[in-house]
Amino acid sequence: MKRALMTGCGAYLPERVLTNDEIAQRLDTSDQWIRQRTGICERRIAATGETTADLGTTAAQRALAQVGMTANDVDLLVVATATPDETFPATATRIQARLGMTRGAAFDVHAVCTGFVYALAVADNFIKVGQARTALVVGAETFSRILDWEDRGTCVLFGDGAGAVVLEAVENGEADGRGVLSTHLHSDGRHHDALYVDGGPSSTQTVGHLRMEGREVFRHAVSRMAEVIDEALDANDLTPGDVDWLVPHQANMRIIEAMGRRLNLPPDRVVSTVDRHANTSAASIPLALCEAVDDGRIQRGDLVLMEGMGGGFTWGSALVRW
Ligand code: ACO
Repeated sequence: MKRALMTGCGAYLPERVLTNDEIAQRLDTSDQWIRQRTGICERRIAATGETTADLGTTAAQRALAQVGMTANDVDLLVVATATPDETFPATATRIQARLGMTRGAAFDVHAVCTGFVYALAVADNFIKVGQARTALVVGAETFSRILDWEDRGTCVLFGDGAGAVVLEAVENGEADGRGVLSTHLHSDGRHHDALYVDGGPSSTQTVGHLRMEGREVFRHAVSRMAEVIDEALDANDLTPGDVDWLVPHQANMRIIEAMGRRLNLPPDRVVSTVDRHANTSAASIPLALCEAVDDGRIQRGDLVLMEGMGGGFTWGSALVRW
């Protein structure tokens, strides 16, 4: 059996910053309300014509550059997104073409805000069984395109962005304890109505808008994410004290802080970008991870716990020794 080492990461955020105050100029909301309930101060918005594949391509290029690889070193490209450029082909194949990658396989995974954890689990399993040696896992979203900008209960919560990581196969015995230690995935489709997009090619032939019962989602998010934290620790025979960094999905500061408390982690060991990025769905975990790697907080050998929850509902975790 092989082990997947996480060797590099890259991120991309669109240039345009949209502040709470700007939203408050055209909707009945306020910077104070948004900050107090969510911790969000601003978010990035993709430029007109800038697509999910554009964002994902730049993040992927930066991840490859960090490890000194070219696109043709990659066997597998898995893109987590709920906001694809087109109904088909997969956004992954668009990113593949732009990277200049002419071999291997590329496909999308759709698990909304848990998308990155799902895509990472898929790529990890390809590597474990020897079906890929090098994988790129990308989380890329343009949620600004599916928001109802008249609905103050949802439009203030989301932003656009992309993050990517490189996974490389090594023999288990040569991993020195590093790499993807475990992934755990869950879903429960009974919760569709709490968080969904009211459009799609087969139902309405429209793109639709995101609809959410905020309180219901909040309640489930706190309990499901706490469960997966416990599950990841138990599966690896670890205690909260073993975790160096929590890199949670960035939905809401109150949820992030609650998960940090569950692990007894001091706040500076919980990576948070929600204040500047808002919720970028499948991109939020790799964006946060990449920020903490690039600024030197996360060091080689650190134990990093990632967890997320999203529409479906879906939820899950990935435990990685960086
Ligand atoms: N500005 C001002 N007032 C607002 C806004 C806003 N942007 N949005 C809602 N309100 C109002 C509501 O209309 C309501 O007014 P009313 O009492 O007169 O009816 C009041 O604020 C309270 O609304 P609630 O929805 O009950 O507010 P709550 O405290 O639950 O906060 C929030 C709402 C921030 C959405 C919270 O429920 C939340 O964070 N839920 C999690 C949602 C989430 O993170 N979703 C992302 C996808 S899933 C994931 O990533 C985990």
